[in-house]
Amino acid sequence: MTAHDVAGGSARLLNSIRSRRSFKLKDLDPDPIDLDLIGEMLEAANWAPSHGKTEPWRFVVFSGDQRSTISEAFGHAYRALNPGAAFSGEAQTAQERKPWMAPVWIALGVDPDPARPEWEELIAFGCAVHNAQLVASALRLGSKWTSGAVVTHPLVAAAVGFGPATQLRGFLYVGRPVGEWPTSARRPISEKVRWMSTERSSPETQ
Ligand SMILES: Cc1cc2nc3c(=O)[nH]c(=O)nc-3n(C[C@H](O)[C@H](O)[C@H](O)COP(=O)(O)O)c2cc1C
Repeated sequence: MTAHDVAGGSARLLNSIRSRRSFKLKDLDPDPIDLDLIGEMLEAANWAPSHGKTEPWRFVVFSGDQRSTISEAFGHAYRALNPGAAFSGEAQTAQERKPWMAPVWIALGVDPDPARPEWEELIAFGCAVHNAQLVASALRLGSKWTSGAVVTHPLVAAAVGFGPATQLRGFLYVGRPVGEWPTSARRPISEKVRWMSTERSSPETQ
């Protein structure tokens, strides 16, 4: 492999990382997608780093009619979180409708090794989810990690089949985008880095 090939590969990877985007549910087509693509995403997730190779990520994939399990669970969780006057039937229906707006919902679980610092296990799990999202983007699939109080509620964790050792940290929903690929921006990396070195010459990356 030449230096040119290496530079080209790095530029393509950076481009993939920059173009990974989170999609709103309304911007996805609810029609089914090939589940082999989800398999590719999860294979990428499984190659995340973890200290001591604990591999703490756990996933449950919901598609087709199986989404009724999480639809009902979202409704129950909404009701549990909004007792009495706070309850709105319309808001409950909106929660129940969400799983039908994207063809695949992946429950995101982390099973931290008690012998390790929990923060390390959570970071390893986050890397795994990010790997999956990067492959989704490369496959031109839209996705988003959703992690609100409803979708992470213990009633939802029980419904997806996670035992007490596994923390439900949200869902990654996945589907084909209906419109344009969204764009985004970041504040410059220079705001977040201090270079304790004198050798660098290109100011835009300092
Ligand atoms: C751990 C985690 C949890 C997230 N939870 C939510 C969420 O609950 N709702 C939401 O709209 N976006 C959520 N996001 C997505 C972020 O809003 C999104 O990554 C951010 O706006 C940057 O947009 P981008 O992913 O298109 O670059 C989450 C992202 C991460 C990493």
